[in-house]
Amino acid sequence: MADRRATACVVLAAGKGTRMVSDTPKVLHRLAGQTLLGHVLAAVGELVPQRTVVVVSPDMAELPGLAPGHAIAVQPDRRGTGDAVRRAAAHLEGFDGTVVVVFGDTPLVTAGTLARLAGCIDADTAVAVFGMRPDDPGRYGRLVVDTASRLERIVEFADAGEAERALTLCNGGFMAFDAARLPELLDALDDGNAQGEFYLTDTVAAARARGWGCAVVEGDAVEALGVNTRADLALVGRHHQERLRTAALAAGVTLVDPATTYLSADTTYGRDVVIEPMVVIGPGVALGDRAHVLSFSHLEGAAVDADVSVGPFARLRPGAHLAAGAKVGNFVEVKNAEVGAGAKVSHLSYIGDADIGARANIGAGTITCNYDGFLKYRTVVGEDAFIGSNTALVAPVTVGDRAMVGAGSTIARPVAADAMAMTRAPQTEREGWAAKFRRVMSGEKARRAARKATNGG
Ligand code: UD1
Ligand code: CA
Repeated sequence: MADRRATACVVLAAGKGTRMVSDTPKVLHRLAGQTLLGHVLAAVGELVPQRTVVVVSPDMAELPGLAPGHAIAVQPDRRGTGDAVRRAAAHLEGFDGTVVVVFGDTPLVTAGTLARLAGCIDADTAVAVFGMRPDDPGRYGRLVVDTASRLERIVEFADAGEAERALTLCNGGFMAFDAARLPELLDALDDGNAQGEFYLTDTVAAARARGWGCAVVEGDAVEALGVNTRADLALVGRHHQERLRTAALAAGVTLVDPATTYLSADTTYGRDVVIEPMVVIGPGVALGDRAHVLSFSHLEGAAVDADVSVGPFARLRPGAHLAAGAKVGNFVEVKNAEVGAGAKVSHLSYIGDADIGARANIGAGTITCNYDGFLKYRTVVGEDAFIGSNTALVAPVTVGDRAMVGAGSTIARPVAADAMAMTRAPQTEREGWAAKFRRVMSGEKARRAARKATNGG
């Protein structure tokens, strides 16, 4: 068996993205919580490349956190995909494995496809191209094969004649190269074409002219969908969600209505999770065994343990941890808070910066007042505590284990374990007051109506 060749990756991302009509560089637009570039780098990362070079335009080069841990090459002018790869050359010095070239604006590319491309490169084959047969070949470059169905050259749509435009096998854009022979191929490029650009695709004809083989790896055209407009972003987003839903279903998650369930690439699931319609799951969510997420809930950065019920209409924000068997009901927001095992926050509450003990019961309308306009403070509620409805817990504050708080209280001082605290004003009662009030007022109303009638109304 041949030695596995090392891989390096070049990600082309110098496109301006004018048609996004945005102040944000195109590849930094987000798809399901992650940037387009982040999606591509994640796929590339699965190849465990020795080096990854991201080619950007000069105005992007200084962006902090653009591609952490990867080399950045700058392409001063947008002179074509071939020119862009040349700009990465300095970072590939001394590397003699396989170079995989991908685009930063095609977030649906998979590691499997890139690995298949890379796997084609050997002593005989210097170039490999991702080929596809989309329903509408549109303006994609066309793959021209010879009589022995070997790839001969790629012709860009702008340069193609009628017969070439009629070809259905298209260039998806991703390519792999033998690093040792890539510099010679890049040197062979010129810009004598319809767009006045250095086409990376011309490396195929250059390789064939040298007697080097070129391979085609055919795959799903969806992987090559690029983002140039907001409409493209939405389309790619739909395909991405489709993949996540299919994977969740295959992993044993019940999605009652997959089309209205929005997932993230990093969502993790235990066994027998159920997600009802109209749920949005943002980044960083883990759902434990038998977790049940009811309709219209929005979750991000939250850990939901086994047998927990969330929603309907619940919001879990970053740092929410619902321990086994807990229940968070309708119109409840939880942020940076631990809700203990078996604890219940069933209705209309805000639980922020808090620790709710196991089996505690938090009454309807309870609010943790965690912010004084300057700093945030923590609320701690003990195990088996009972907080009456419409309670304000003014943090920092602690309610002890098994303590009770009377409904409508504003609790700003610690409550001891097993105590009962209440700040409600004493109730007063006036016997017959309501009946008398009704009598007086109905008389008054009748007198006014009569007066209005005599005044010619
Ligand atoms: C390219 C292919 C075409 C293929 C299509 C698939 C070439 C010459 N053509 O065409 O055969 O069918 O992709 O989508 O390669 N970029 C730079 N610097 C540049 C030019 C481009 O970084 O100077 C980047 C872009 O940001 C983009 C990628 O390279 O991410 C592809 O560029 P794009 O203009 O979209 O190429 P196409 O004309 O679509
Ligand atoms: Ca393109």
